[in-house]
Amino acid sequence: MSKKILKIGHRGAKTYVAENTIASVEKALNLAVDAIEIDVHRCASGELVVFHDFTLDRMTNGTGEVAKHTLRQLKKLKVNNQYEIPTLEEVLDAIDKKCLLNIELKGRDTATTTCKIIEDYIKTKHWNVDHFIISSFQHQELEMVYKLNNQLRLGVLTKASVLDAIDFAETINAYAIHPNVALVTKDNVSLAQNKGYKVLTWTVNDQSTIERVKTYQVDGIISDNPDMI
Ligand code: G3P
Ligand code: CA
Repeated sequence: MSKKILKIGHRGAKTYVAENTIASVEKALNLAVDAIEIDVHRCASGELVVFHDFTLDRMTNGTGEVAKHTLRQLKKLKVNNQYEIPTLEEVLDAIDKKCLLNIELKGRDTATTTCKIIEDYIKTKHWNVDHFIISSFQHQELEMVYKLNNQLRLGVLTKASVLDAIDFAETINAYAIHPNVALVTKDNVSLAQNKGYKVLTWTVNDQSTIERVKTYQVDGIISDNPDMI
């Protein structure tokens, strides 16, 4: 039997619906994903919002840094002229345990509130620790999560070196390495797996690359069009 490779929707289902919106999350669920990846930032009033860029300009009718706007201000904006910027809780409620959730800590100071929200959903809404993977390029955010709750699954993002990511992963007892697809080889996938890490690669959108990384036996593929996995 061939190995189960997780089918992970990137920023929801970015190819089909505006990234990091509830509609994109719903689209990914309709495509029967195993997991959804989203990005979070902490806004000026302290809530976590689901948004990729540090600035509002590319995706909304607003301008300037996400972190300098309150939730009230962000909620008045439109993503692609149509959608609201969701909070992390709104995304959790939309998913409602129908698949796993990979929360990427994109912005600064996101670890503490992410842990609080996850712990609250585990305590009060029947989510399980295994429903979550917390990933980041920012080592200090991952270290903070590890310090606050060492039961949470951590993923080390890298676009530079799988070996460096493994070295850091050892210090925080990480669950997975998340390498950019351009870094991935059959050998570094086996190396990471032999050390006990899952390998979830991104962002793999074309069919031939999807097939190639499948032959490397990665554990998950993060794609804008997860239906192609
Ligand atoms: O988590 C994988 C991937 O989303 C990391 O890069 O820039 O798309 O957030 P980016
Ligand atoms: Ca991301």
